[in-house]
Order: sequence, then C-alpha cells, then structure tokens
Amino acid sequence: MAAAISPALPSPLLIAATLMMLLVQAQGITRHYDFNVEMANATRLCTTKSMVTVNGQCPGPELVAREGDRAVIRVTNNVAHNITLHWHGIRQLRTGWADGPAYITQCPIQTGQSYVYNFTITGQRGTLWWHAHISWLRSTVYGALVVLPKLGVPYPFPAPHEEVPIIFGEWWNADTEVVVSQAIQTGAGPNVSDAFTINGLPGPLYNCSAQDTFKLKVKPGKTYMLRLINAALNDELFFSIANHTLTIVEVDAVYVKPFTVDTLIISPGQTTNVLLTTKPYYPGANFYMTAAPYSTARPGTFDNTTVAGILEYENPFSPSAASFIKSLPLFKPTLPRINDTDFVTNFTNKLRSLATAQYPAAVPQSVDRRFFFTVGLGTLPCPANMTCQGPNGTQMAASMNNVSFVLPSKALLHSHFTGLSSGVYASDFPVTPLSPFNYTGTPPNNTHVKTGTKLLVLAYNTTVELVMQDTSILGIESHPLHLHGFNFFVVGQGIGNYDAVNDPAKFNLVDPVERNTVGVPAGGWVAIRFLADNPGVWFMHCHLEAHTTWGLRMAWLVLDGSQPDQKLLPPPSDLPKC
Ligand code: C2O
Repeated sequence: MAAAISPALPSPLLIAATLMMLLVQAQGITRHYDFNVEMANATRLCTTKSMVTVNGQCPGPELVAREGDRAVIRVTNNVAHNITLHWHGIRQLRTGWADGPAYITQCPIQTGQSYVYNFTITGQRGTLWWHAHISWLRSTVYGALVVLPKLGVPYPFPAPHEEVPIIFGEWWNADTEVVVSQAIQTGAGPNVSDAFTINGLPGPLYNCSAQDTFKLKVKPGKTYMLRLINAALNDELFFSIANHTLTIVEVDAVYVKPFTVDTLIISPGQTTNVLLTTKPYYPGANFYMTAAPYSTARPGTFDNTTVAGILEYENPFSPSAASFIKSLPLFKPTLPRINDTDFVTNFTNKLRSLATAQYPAAVPQSVDRRFFFTVGLGTLPCPANMTCQGPNGTQMAASMNNVSFVLPSKALLHSHFTGLSSGVYASDFPVTPLSPFNYTGTPPNNTHVKTGTKLLVLAYNTTVELVMQDTSILGIESHPLHLHGFNFFVVGQGIGNYDAVNDPAKFNLVDPVERNTVGVPAGGWVAIRFLADNPGVWFMHCHLEAHTTWGLRMAWLVLDGSQPDQKLLPPPSDLPKC
C-alpha cells in the first residue's frame, strides 16, 4: 500500500506546492512579451497600405496580466521610424523609465534597437491599453491591456459569461506620418481619417467593407462584459447597440457605481467596461452596434462617419451552421447629434466611484497646491520663410496657460535624474494664466501662444487641485486630457467660466469618479484632485493627437520623497539614448 497517498495527511510536497501558490498569488508572476515593431500590409476600404504594427497585427497583441504581476515587454524596432510604447493608465510607481512618451521619459527606440519595458502592476485592475507614443504612430500601433483582479478576487458585480475587448480605432487610407508632417509644414489643420473601426474592422456602412465587419456572437440570456477602448487618434465617440442597454461598471480601470444607458460617450484614451445582457430568448433579429463622433469643431475638421459591427445571436435551430441569417430584420441604434454636449454632460455626471470599504475613493480632502490651466486652441505667427495655411495666414497651435509645449531633443526624465536639465527644460510652467480674459466669451484679438518646454515641480506627496478651463479661441472644443503616472478624481465640472468662489462648494469629495483621462467640457471647465505620490516626470496632454501635436501638453516633475521607497529607481541599462 506504499503508493497510496493518505487524503488526511497532505504530503510535504503538497504543502510546499500550496505555499508556493499562495506566495505566487501574493507576489504576482512575471509576464513576458515580445513585441516586434514591423511593417505589415493591410487593406480596408479597397485601399492597401503598408503600416507600422506590433507583430504584424492591428490591433496589436492583447497584453493580459493580473494585479500584482510584473510585465516584461521586449520591444524591438524593425521599422524605419523611431518608436516608443506607452502603457496607458499603468501608474508606473517609481518606474517612470517604462512609461514611454518619447522625449519625456525616454529617448525613442531607434531602428534595429530594442528596449525592455519592465514594470509591476500595483493596486490596479481593469481595462487599460497600450499604444505608440511618438508622432502619430499610434494610429496603427495599439492594443488592449487587460489587468485581471488577483486570483480569487471577484468583480464587484456578477461574473460575466464572457469578456470581449472592443477597440475603436481609425482607418486612414493615407500614411498618418505623412498627414502629420504635412500639417506641421503648412500650419493648417491635419486631414481626417477615412473610417472608424471596431477591432480593426470598418463594417458595412463604408464602401468595400461589408466583409470587414466585427461580429459579436452571443447566446440568449447571458451577460457579456465588453471592454471598450477608444484608440482613435482624433475623435470622441458615441456608442450604442440597437435594442439593448449597457451597464457601465468600470472606467479607466476603476470600478464605478453601475448605471444603465442606451448610449455612452468614450474619448480617446478612455476605457469603459460595460455589461451587456442578451435577450432571454432568441430574438430572430440582428442588431447593429455603432459608433460615431461627438464634436463641436467646424465640420470638415473631423471624420463624420459611422462604424458598425453586428450583434449576432446564435441560431438555436442550427447552432452549428452559420448563425447570421441575412434575411432577419436588422435594427440600428440612434446616436445623439454630433454636437450634443448636453448628452455628454448628463452622461459624465452619472459617473461615480464605488467608494466602498474594499474599493474606497481616496479623494484628497485638503489641498496643498491649487492650479488653474486654460486649455484651448491658438495660433503661432508664420515664420518669415514660409506661407502658412492656418487661420489668417498663421500656423495652428494649441496651449495650456498659453504655453504651447515644445518637445525637447533629450528625454526630460533622464535630464532631471542626472541633473543636466539646463538647456533642456525650465521649471516655470505658469500656475495660472498670465493674462486672464473672459475664457468662454468673445475671444481676444491676439490669439498667439508662447512656446516653451516648461515643467511644473511638485514636492513628493503634494495634494493637487487642478481646474482646467476650455477657451473659445478658434472655437470651443472638448479636450480629453490625460495625465500619466496617476489617477485623479473628477471633483467638479461645469459649462462656462469656472467660478473660484461658488463652484468649490459643489465639489463632490465623497464618491467622484477616478480616472486617467477626462474630457474638459467644450466651453466649460473640470476640476480634478490627485496625490503626487509617484516621483518622476509625468506628461499631461490632450489625447486628440491633432491638439497634442499643436502643443496642448505639459509635464509635471514630482520630486523624490525622503524615504528610500519614495524615490525614482535608477534607469535600466538598456534605456535608449538620443
Ligand atoms: Cu494614451 Cu500620453 O497617452
């Protein structure tokens, strides 16, 4: 009987294995990925082009990890462009070297070189994404980054039957690097995309594209979790599924109090998890899911088209056969008007943190430093040797507090770390507008902005309140502002000019939504709070790529704290050089 293992007495081996499991659970594991940046051909809208991809795919590979895991991604550049990758929404605690924005936290990875992004995912779970962070390469270089909860930790809602990433992108017939360099050369607004895509597919509403349609195959009476990601370059999007509702349960990888809608808005940079409960019985119909832009900008300055995918129920009468039956009725959702700011305000006002014991909302209740930034468009004078096609012969620009941020030619983080910052950046980003005006009233005659590479320096653990105010210069527009290195709480928002006397009393300091990208309302303001507990240089910018290019960006420098675990780690040895 020597071979029998007594169930009552676990073997030392079993105990060791169990202990190991627990240890692994507590510490997380390391997830290795190889991301090869390479050219690949793709055909959409009957146009074939060669484009920059990761591993030949667009969207690129999905990165999956658990909270507490370490991600080690070897990125090898096999294309003629410089490249960097950014892990959008990952906090990068003390590991700013792995954050990715070109010339902010690293020099680009040059052709033939590689760099290993190495970071631990701490205190975060949910849907995030990764994308190229140099020029406009993110138009084809992006993918989902799914952080699962720790083993054994359930979602704060019933477990879905299935989880499906839904990534919105843009398809450009042209090479987006040519588009952006042309825009910079002429000073005019850049061209717009030719189509939107769902998981890379434009769908039946575009010419030549019926075969390239995303289909979500579902069973009746089940709940699906859709991990929505807006990876479009320049467009905020409404999204809806005909005859179905969507329950929002998470945004930007933070759980929210669930609420149910027919339609939602998602801005570039943002992610939204929704639960979709299918009809209890086979409905004998197909349903479009559509996305189309929200914009208050001039027509022609954005892509005014609609992407559709199909929600397809498995045919219970022949589940093995092709279940999509063309003759079935097809329902289409109605999306809000293109400039429906009221819809956007109502929707964003519904977002609330869970604020439970397990998922508290750690809103800073007191504030060490208050800042007020204008965000908006503007112009730059046309250089003497050029003709410019921006407004009245100027160059288009955009700014925060009238500073149009100029990318340096050396990485800011390394310049700071080595103390060699002189000539690279200045530490005098204005904490408030230098010449105040009626921001949402009649714009001033002089629309010119200043240029500079200015940082705002914060001591470790500063609690920050920042009000961002849209301006009416060259038209009010919504600006999805993204902060690297932190989540922030959206404590207030409003239309018109921020009122520093009366608005703070209305701030929500109990359960405001926590996120990494927030829309500054068109012709309005938003107030955020965050704790500067992550030393490093952290980019903040509009996630509309056109606006970022024009300079709607700045960076925070958060200094080391006094304790050893409050300091930026040293750079990895393979950190690219400029
Ligand atoms: Cu999603 Cu600075 O970017």
